[in-house]
Amino acid sequence: MIAIGSDHAGFPLKEEIKKYLDENKIGYNDVGCYNTDSFDYAISAQKACDLVVSGECDKAILCCGTGIGISMAANKVDGIRAAACSEYFSAKYTRLHNDANCLCMGARVIGVGEALEIVDVFLNTGFEGGRHQRRIDQIMDIQNGKKLY
Ligand code: RB5
Repeated sequence: MIAIGSDHAGFPLKEEIKKYLDENKIGYNDVGCYNTDSFDYAISAQKACDLVVSGECDKAILCCGTGIGISMAANKVDGIRAAACSEYFSAKYTRLHNDANCLCMGARVIGVGEALEIVDVFLNTGFEGGRHQRRIDQIMDIQNGKKLY
């Protein structure tokens, strides 16, 4: 199950991603927003990420204008590793190396075709583990106030 959300700028791309999820029979929980009226991205980010942290959803996909604001908000949720991606390579490697559980994209940055390729690789690439797990643990250590040096 995927948690999906956006602000007003990301709404059109969110709707395109929902079509992809429908076509691929992937379930989702759309936390909004639901039209192009002005809507603050932090609200959708927190709603979607809470579903991931609680275990109700496996991953989150978030869209705003740039993908940046909504990723900043998502990364404030404890347990979320959000990556703002504008191309395929980053989306692939943020799964392989960062075990990202939240994909963020900018509807004003990339086209729908590129976005759907990014969604596809993000959802179908596993985490490599090993040394990368240590580095993720260090990210959590920072969040928990531990000095790494
Ligand atoms: C909304 O105008 C825009 O600021 C927002 O979608 C996003 O790009 C922020 O990072």
